[in-house]
Amino acid sequence: MGKKVFEKINLGGIEVNNRIVRSATGELMADSNGYVTDRLIKMYTDLCDGDIGLLITGLTEVVEGTLTYTLMKISDDSYIEGLKRLTDAVHEKNGKIVVQLVHHGAQVKGNPDYTPYSPSGVGDEESSFKPKEITKEEIKKVVEDFGDGALRAKKAGFDGVQIHGAHGYFFSRFLTPYYNRRNDEYGGSIENRVRIILEAYENVRSKCGEDFPVFIKMNISDFLEKGGLTFEDSRKAAKLFAQAGFDSIEISGGIRRGDHLPMRPKIKTVEDEAYHRDYGEIIAKDLDIPIILVGGFKSLEVIEDVISNTDIEAVSMCRPFIREPRLLNRWLDGQTEKSKCISCNQCFSPTGTTCIFNRK
Ligand SMILES: Cc1cc2nc3c(=O)[nH]c(=O)nc-3n(C[C@H](O)[C@H](O)[C@H](O)COP(=O)(O)O)c2cc1C
Repeated sequence: MGKKVFEKINLGGIEVNNRIVRSATGELMADSNGYVTDRLIKMYTDLCDGDIGLLITGLTEVVEGTLTYTLMKISDDSYIEGLKRLTDAVHEKNGKIVVQLVHHGAQVKGNPDYTPYSPSGVGDEESSFKPKEITKEEIKKVVEDFGDGALRAKKAGFDGVQIHGAHGYFFSRFLTPYYNRRNDEYGGSIENRVRIILEAYENVRSKCGEDFPVFIKMNISDFLEKGGLTFEDSRKAAKLFAQAGFDSIEISGGIRRGDHLPMRPKIKTVEDEAYHRDYGEIIAKDLDIPIILVGGFKSLEVIEDVISNTDIEAVSMCRPFIREPRLLNRWLDGQTEKSKCISCNQCFSPTGTTCIFNRK
């Protein structure tokens, strides 16, 4: 197909230096109210020094009051100033940065006063809270919150936004029949289950304009034995997202209680890598918008193979950049050994996402 990993492209409206993206990675480096800190900015400028084509921030909360954890928030205008410091620092280093907008839904920790929403009030063992079924009025508010969050992102200088539609967060659960048992226009068929996301998308568009890049990350399957989002339905959902006007889709999979985590452990051989590839290839063939593929990439040879032999436009990585923010510098210098990440998932830490091998 003639595509090269290290070439400049327009990725969903953003000019990037190469086809490698840093997939959203919850940083846990904001302050306890979700404001940007110097530590957070330093982490992102270190990633810029690593020549990554596009950075996607960790999940950033658009809805007020859901959590008190040290993830970033964009739920009111007071967050814009700190976020602008972050985007300025990235742009000074010629980096590009998209913010991932999330509503945590029932996958939330930290605020005992918050009653989490879910499509149908179906609980989840990951959360200590019992969720409540969201009403149509409340859905309208969430839709507005996404539009307002995206407008703040634009004001803060982000190159675009990515709506988090994957991994069991609020929107993802609308796509999942196990969690979405609604009988109204938001439940049932896949056309109904995507409705809330399309409404949020339209709200973002109306507030941010036609030219502002709007991406989505979605599951191609939840890998649940029963009641999960299936590939058949996610393929239809992806078509609906593309038709609506999303500029790019990042393909992921899995939820916490499923058979496969989004971040699968024990990626040892090249055969273990790119574990959503087969699905991503099909979606990329189906659609005209750029597809980004995430999940288990560690070797340049596997990335090159996906880029040159499929319609997938870019690949994204999370854990390898936690271990080595400058992985791409090394590869560009000709030291093409695979990422040193051992997929142990010990990077999750309440004191900030870091690799255990890099902790002092
Ligand atoms: C520490 C950590 C934090 C993550 N945070 C997010 C997040 O904020 N949003 C998201 O969509 N995915 C998140 N993920 C999932 C990754 O973006 C990615 O989809 C997954 O780890 C597979 O890619 P990898 O094999 O390159 O790590 C996170 C994963 C890890 C390990």
